[in-house]
Amino acid sequence: MDGAFCFRNGTQLSKLINETGALTTELDCCSHRPAVAALLRLALPHVNLVQDDSEPVNEHGYSRHMLHTDPDGKFSVLAIRWTPGACTPIHGHNAWGCVGVLEGEIGCETFDHKTDSHQPCVAEAPDLVSTGKLLAGPGTVATVDPDPCGIHRIFNPTNSPATTLHIYGMDLGERPDGLNKWYQH
Ligand SMILES: [Fe+2]
Repeated sequence: MDGAFCFRNGTQLSKLINETGALTTELDCCSHRPAVAALLRLALPHVNLVQDDSEPVNEHGYSRHMLHTDPDGKFSVLAIRWTPGACTPIHGHNAWGCVGVLEGEIGCETFDHKTDSHQPCVAEAPDLVSTGKLLAGPGTVATVDPDPCGIHRIFNPTNSPATTLHIYGMDLGERPDGLNKWYQH
């Protein structure tokens, strides 16, 4: 943890981490994503963050804060702070993931691989088609399967910052850049 985020009630984060560890140990790997999503839905209303908006953001307008990496490398927990107008490049993930909105509203646009030359292409990624957008508020939990499923970009279309909590099924402490497969550079 880099100190930018401080959980007012650290017990809730510890409980979430401990129970995620138990689930990912006891269940077969196909069950990890839905089980952790159900756990995150329960925990999310009880997680409070103190944000430090002086933390520098990257060129896309967001900052990542690693909160925990599982000692056995099975999962990682991080928070992301999104400034107004922030937007990720289009990407997939190399692991299952669960994302919960803690504060503010976050947009997500999903994509699929183009199968018909008549489909309108995406300017930033001509091999993809957009399959929809949604706006999610506090308490919302979404999940993503590993690439080639779940291609998306996340953005903050509001005038206020937003914060999300993420659990991914891989060791991002060991490989901090190993999560994303980029479709747009
Ligand atoms: Fe993502």
